[in-house]
Order: sequence, then structure tokens, then C-alpha cells
Amino acid sequence: MNKTIIVSNRLPLQVSIQENSLEIVPSVGGLATGMKSVHSEGNGIWIGWSGIPENDLSPDLSKKVQTKIRNEKCVSVPLTSQDIEEYYEGFSNRALWPLFHYFMEYTEFEQNEWDAYKRVNENFAKVVLENLEDGDTVWVHDYQLLLLPQLIKDQKPNTTIGFFLHIPFPSYEIFRTFPWREEILKGMLGSDLLGFHTYDYERHFLSSIKRILRLEVQFNEINYHDRTIKVDSFPMGIDYDKFYNAALEHQKSSIEKSDLRKRLEEHMSEDKKLILSIDRMDYTKGIPNRIKAFEYFLDNYPEYKEHVRLVMLAVPSRSNVPQYQKLKRETDELVGRINGKFATVSWTPIWYFYRSLPFDDLIDLYISSDVALITPIRDGMNLVAKEYVATRTNGDGVLILSEMAGASKEMNEALLINPNSYKDFAATLKRALTMPQDEQKTRIKFLQKRLKRYDVEKWATEFFKALEGTKKLRQGKVTK
Ligand code: ADP
Ligand code: F6P
Repeated sequence: MNKTIIVSNRLPLQVSIQENSLEIVPSVGGLATGMKSVHSEGNGIWIGWSGIPENDLSPDLSKKVQTKIRNEKCVSVPLTSQDIEEYYEGFSNRALWPLFHYFMEYTEFEQNEWDAYKRVNENFAKVVLENLEDGDTVWVHDYQLLLLPQLIKDQKPNTTIGFFLHIPFPSYEIFRTFPWREEILKGMLGSDLLGFHTYDYERHFLSSIKRILRLEVQFNEINYHDRTIKVDSFPMGIDYDKFYNAALEHQKSSIEKSDLRKRLEEHMSEDKKLILSIDRMDYTKGIPNRIKAFEYFLDNYPEYKEHVRLVMLAVPSRSNVPQYQKLKRETDELVGRINGKFATVSWTPIWYFYRSLPFDDLIDLYISSDVALITPIRDGMNLVAKEYVATRTNGDGVLILSEMAGASKEMNEALLINPNSYKDFAATLKRALTMPQDEQKTRIKFLQKRLKRYDVEKWATEFFKALEGTKKLRQGKVTK
């Protein structure tokens, strides 16, 4: 039976060594949480990195890791500490990530890191080829593996290959500054179908293809050598029912409430509101901006002092990369300063958690909050915004969402803001806190309907359908 091979840098599970024994935890991030439900239902395998440097493992532990991973229908690509430093922290997260998110000032282009990026993409290709059988479909994910589609196509030209980018594709003017721009585009063109979250990202990509590679593009098809490559947008959804049902379950009166929930509820009443933000600790997420805008809000709407609390969960991420360390320091400092400035004996304006919380705690946070404040400076999609809406089983709650998140394209009923305008931010927060229940419910209802219809399963099905279509195109069954 033919299978689907999912390939991404990170597996949906992360292995670490805790006091000489192996610990396995779920991976954080939109790609892992989204694709997990697709993977668990299919008959395929998932190839990626286990989250631990290979040289930290004794041969015995390495074998144990492989077995644990195999049991989850996964196969690991071993990465050494040097690979992690140069390919992951280096090229992926110091060159591609900031450039694709328009943070030009953070971008570093290092030849040795580009060499490592090529080397690790080749290692991924080797593991894919070892597991690939005739008739299998390969679905490659994200910016860490932009060269992989062509590496597979070179060896197995008949394999159907899809690629999905989970982050923005930047405008041509940004992308053209990239020293290895041609190699990157050609690597991606090994795919038969390229998917992006939004039409804008797709348009930016096609523009780079035309202007850098000078290829012919007709509507959303690229002619490349003797192949036709399809490009389309597929906004990623969430596992809607999982979040909705978990929220329902948590609200049952028979369920013993967690300590976190009890603490949150102490702050819930008619005149006390909880505002929630959840992100990986990443400079693209606009965390310092959000804290400063919250300060601006408290300065300009002092009647809300003691009546609102910002609950801010920042999940540690890429903490060996200097910009992330700087962001952590800046966030700690800002939270300390603002709490110091406004706190009273009975009120702390910001509750700040810098850690990863289990799924049940995430649900408690979602269901206990009156307002979700999702204000990235730039974000490919942002699934947290969608998860918040899905958990509003009573139909109330307000989502404030940055226009710079891909999700804003499908979530017009949210209150959309420019995260760089504190004035807009503060006025919108005030509007959210005073929004009548009826209006909240109308907005949430529309959003929920759309998210339920276009959930992650539908997203994957649509992608696969389009990928199947490219197969027929290649076999000449469809005339263009
Ligand atoms: P990104 O992919 O940039 O991290 P998204 O908002 O698209 O941003 O996705 C974040 C995902 O990570 C969400 O699905 C969210 O539920 C998940 N997540 C956040 N915190 C945790 C956590 N502590 N443990 C597991 N998953 C988490
Ligand atoms: O969604 C973007 C993304 O970079 C994914 O590729 C990744 O899984 C997630 O964010 C978390 O990042 P990392 O794998 O670097 O921890």
C-alpha cells in the first residue's frame, strides 16, 4: 500500500534526557500541532529530527530513542551539535527566519552555515530515500528544508512531492537580497505542488520566480524544464473538534478544576477581565510591543487599573540564538518595570509565564479569558488565534488580532489592529472590554463556523487533492 511521507525539521515529539532516562514531550509550534492530527490518521510516516543532538546519546540510548520514535510512526534524522548550531540555529533561524519575516536587521548570511544547510538537507534526502517506495507521496514542510524537494526529485523523478511553507514568503524586494536566492528557489521547484498560507505569499513567491529565475508563469503554474509546477494558497486550519470538545469537557461541573483554573477564576467577575496572550518567545510575535501597548492602555484608561490582567504565556523557543536571548531579557525587564509601576497589594497587571504548559492548562487559559490579544509583528498564520475561537463554547469572548498575521485574512470578525500603533491598540482593547455580549456572540459564531468547516483535516485533504491533480497532469491524463 502506498504511503505518505511527511518531512519536517522537527518531529511532533521531542526527546530529551532527564536524569539518565528518556523523556518524550509533544513539540510546540503550529506545524507540529497542526500536522499531528493528519499524521495520526494516515498510514504514513513522519521523518524529522528528534530534538536531541546525536552526539549526546550513547549507542544504547540512541537505539532506545529510535524504538520510541518508531512506535509513533516516526523516523529520526540524526543531527550533530554542529548541525544544530550551523543549520538550525544558524542558517534556518539567523538567516531565513528573520529575512522571511521582514526582520532584515537580524539577518546574518554566513557561508559555513549555508554549507551546513545544504549538508543537512542532503542528510534528510538520504533518510527519505531509504524509506521511499514506488508510488509513495512525499510532503515536505517549511523553511528548514527548502532544498529537499529538488534533492528527492533528482533521485526519484517519478515521486509526487508537495511542499508547504508555514511562514510568510517575503516580497521580491526582500527576497532578492538573499545571497543564495537562486539555489533556494530551484530547491523548492523540485516539488509538484507548492502551498502557502495566503494568496499574498503565493504572489510574492511567483514574483521572485519570474524576476529571479526568469521562468514562465501562467496564472498559478510554473513551467520548469519539462515539468509544470502548481502553486496555490491553503490557509492552515486547526483540529477544531479537539479544541471545542476539550473546552466542553473542562467546563463540565463534574470535572475537578485545576489549580491554574481556580487561580484564574479568582480574577473573573463582571468588573474584572482576563486578557490572554500565548506565543512562542519569538521576536516576530510582538511581545515587547504588546507589553508597551498595555502600559499605554493603563496610562490612558486608568479606570481599568485593578480591573484587567494580562496573562501572558511565552513558550521558550530557540534559546541559543542571540536575538531570542535578547528578547527574553527585554521581556523580563518590561514585565518587571510595568508590574513595578502599576501593581498594588491586591493586583498585578501582568501574569507572565515563561515555560511550556501541558495541553489541559492551555485549554484552561483559553476558556478563562475574556479577550485574546494576538498581536504579532509578522506571522505566517497563527493557530493560537484559531484555537482561542474554537474553545469559546459559550459563544462569548473577543479576539484582537494583528493584521500582520496570515490568520487575519480569514478572520474578519476579529478586531483587527496594526500592532505598531499603541493608540489603535489601546482603543481596540477598550472596545473589546466593553463589547456587548450579543456582538461577541455574533462574531464568534461566524468565526467558529468558518474554522469548523475549514479545519486541519480539510486543509490537508485539499492539499492532497491538488497534489493528486499534479500526478494526473504529469501522466498526461489532463489536458491543460
Ligand atoms: P508558531 O507556529 O509560530 O509557533 P502558531 O500560533 O501557529 O505559532 O502555533 C503555536 C502552536 O503551539 C499552537 O498550536 C499552540 O497550541 C501550540 N502551543 C503553544 N504552547 C504550547 C505548549 N506549551 N505545549 C504544546 N503546544 C503549545
Ligand atoms: O510554524 C513555524 C515554525 O518554525 C515551525 O516550522 C516550527 O515547528 C515551529 O515554528 C517551532 O519552531 P522550532 O521548531 O524552531 O522550535
